[in-house]
Amino acid sequence: MADAGYGGVAFVGDLPGRWHQRLHETAAAMATVPLPAAIVLGNHDGPTAAEVLAEALCVDWLDAARLERARSELIASLGPIRELAWSWTTLGDVVVLGARPHAMGRRLSFPRWLATRGIVTEDHAVDALVEAGRAAPAGPLLVLAHNGPSGLGDDGRAPWSLPWGGDLGDRDLRRALTALRGLRPGPIAVVAGHVHRRVGDGRRWLAEFDGLLAVNVARFPRHEQRGDGVVAHHVALEVADGRWVAEARQVPLNAGRGRSDG
Ligand SMILES: [Fe+2]
Repeated sequence: MADAGYGGVAFVGDLPGRWHQRLHETAAAMATVPLPAAIVLGNHDGPTAAEVLAEALCVDWLDAARLERARSELIASLGPIRELAWSWTTLGDVVVLGARPHAMGRRLSFPRWLATRGIVTEDHAVDALVEAGRAAPAGPLLVLAHNGPSGLGDDGRAPWSLPWGGDLGDRDLRRALTALRGLRPGPIAVVAGHVHRRVGDGRRWLAEFDGLLAVNVARFPRHEQRGDGVVAHHVALEVADGRWVAEARQVPLNAGRGRSDG
């Protein structure tokens, strides 16, 4: 990857496997990425499996202090990878702005933890991201989110919709993006995951709205057997003619290397 000319790597979170296994093992492997990197943490990166289940049912059953400790331990395991939460960094000449971490749709996820950051209402969440974007330097902007914005469809094939229908996108993210579009003249893209696009299921992974590009990078499986080897999927983003362009790419992994689709 270091030879591909990339200026950096952005991760959209959800590191562990289905049963929350290998969280720190995965983080430690990611920490060796030979490029500047940033991450926004997902709903499985810190909350326990039981807390994620409760949140899916919109039940406030979370130990916010425990999550804070888990976040600190995970951020330590990530080494040089910059964890973003309503904050920004630069990767090459791109400004990367991290949105609300641990987002999983339906509502402002894990409100007990959000309250420790002063975020209680949707307006608070919008303002936190917009203010971070206002403080960031000029340049192409990549908004890094775990769950995507609302308003991109509810037909089950939209990038952040439920398979049986319904918009799972986050309204605070959508509102902040609209505000940022009015504040910043350069190209803006929002990159997120959370809702998996299983190969062949027809789910769209690109959308354009308000002059922004939205990219759902949560392709499943991410690793596939091809002949004698395994290829890994990622999405390359670049600015061309003043616009963000996304391209799905594959890179071969070393033969015999373990695979993980978690
Ligand atoms: Fe997720």
